[in-house]
Amino acid sequence: MSKVDVLVIESDAVRAQSIVAALQFLGYHPQRGEECAAAADSTHAWRAVFVGTIGDAEEAERQFALLGSAAAHVPVLLAADSAWAPRLNAASSPFAARVGRVDFPLRYEQLAETLRSLYARLLGGGRRGEMRFVGGSQPMMRLNALIRQVAPFDSSVLVLGESGTGKEMVARTIHECSPRRDKPFVAINCGAIPAELLESELFGHEKGAFTGAISARKGRFELAEGGTLFLDEIGDMSLTMQVKLLRVLQERVFERVGGAKSQRCDVRIIAATHRNLEQAIANGQFREDLYYRLSVFPMELPALRERLEDLPVLIDEFNQRLARRGLGRVRLGASALQALNGYAWPGNVRELCNLVERMAILYPQREVRACELPEKYRGHVTMEEANGGAALLAMMDVQQPAASSAEAARTGVDPMLLPEGGIDLKDHLADIEVGLIRQALDVTGGVVAHAAKLLRMQRTTLVEKLRKYGLQSGGLAA
Ligand SMILES: Nc1ncnc2c1ncn2[C@@H]1O[C@H](COP(=O)(O)OP(=O)(O)OP(=O)(O)O)[C@@H](O)[C@H]1O
Ligand SMILES: [Mg+2]
Repeated sequence: MSKVDVLVIESDAVRAQSIVAALQFLGYHPQRGEECAAAADSTHAWRAVFVGTIGDAEEAERQFALLGSAAAHVPVLLAADSAWAPRLNAASSPFAARVGRVDFPLRYEQLAETLRSLYARLLGGGRRGEMRFVGGSQPMMRLNALIRQVAPFDSSVLVLGESGTGKEMVARTIHECSPRRDKPFVAINCGAIPAELLESELFGHEKGAFTGAISARKGRFELAEGGTLFLDEIGDMSLTMQVKLLRVLQERVFERVGGAKSQRCDVRIIAATHRNLEQAIANGQFREDLYYRLSVFPMELPALRERLEDLPVLIDEFNQRLARRGLGRVRLGASALQALNGYAWPGNVRELCNLVERMAILYPQREVRACELPEKYRGHVTMEEANGGAALLAMMDVQQPAASSAEAARTGVDPMLLPEGGIDLKDHLADIEVGLIRQALDVTGGVVAHAAKLLRMQRTTLVEKLRKYGLQSGGLAA
């Protein structure tokens, strides 16, 4: 039987049932405190405690004591209306820094996010606060549960997924949620380093080992000692190197290039590839024995098109990253979001991240309409789709503007209708002008002369308008 890992202190049976079910769904093994007889159960490896309705205070104290020494460090999931809320949240409370709020009726997404951020705070020491690994879709919740399950162990992990799906981010998250988090995370792209250099990159070399080796140098295995080594694009590694890597994985020893001394290493391996390794094995390009060594715990990342419901939360995360770099937030209007929902995202999350940054530079602090997206992203919004997309927008909790004309259906805004409260005509026309100029620049890759041609105006007139609207910034008009 699996170890119990979350203690549930909740005297309301209905609530207890729902929190237990939710935690189980997320991959935990919760148990109600009233069903745990004694603290002697040393098999318990507590990872969290839930504190909800306190029926009998004395009984609740007994249950809390079941945590034993874990009470000093485990995250606390606290029902917003718990009688213990003031005690646990108090500034002087030793729990204050590791309390996460839980509301009823329970929402899986909120619970998963609360746990994720609590672990990030506790285990990652705040370092990862810079870059949050987000996504509340079913596939991402499953992935999060897997990350948490595998993180504490030293098992090798093989992360599979299309380009840009977040493979490196998963590797870093596993490292930061593992007991190795205070030791280095070292990444190496096995596909980008020429085969003849990879060996010395991985294992280091002694002085004079080869022409140009003017001094001894540590390899990535040594640099990652005690921590995690991320072998990216492992599918691109030559067969010769695969043999050498297999030996280190089996024996945990290696030698520097040109060196005779064997060195022991304590490194957790996480490998990733966008290639189909089973196919590569069939083609004789990848060793089967290495594959089994690496894929003790395989993880497949879903493509972004399979979890489009994550778009808003990802966009929000990228906006926050941009804000930290001093760039403006980008707001995507209903029509733009709808267009992005119809796109196939071959470059996955990385492509979305790049698009958000580009839009933030082009349209800082204002809403972007579908017609302002680069052409390939708006291609999918036909009039019919735009009209029939209301349900999707409702699902995404996005306000759909009143639309009556074809233009409105395409862009979500009807520029020909006078709004109820009137309009500042000069500003409105300027907006339209700026929008069209931006599109022209977009289509022509920022070449002003070509954009001017598209807009049927003199280049000098366009330059003047760019100056007037402050559009030169961001390198656009270059
Ligand atoms: N779930 C996520 N939450 C937040 N950001 C993400 C997520 N997934 C990916 N990203 C971001 O998307 C970008 C690409 O992620 P990453 O480099 O991990 O992908 P990858 O699969 O290793 O890509 P490649 O195949 O191109 O090497 C990074 O900026 C990363 O921070
Ligand atoms: Mg990568």
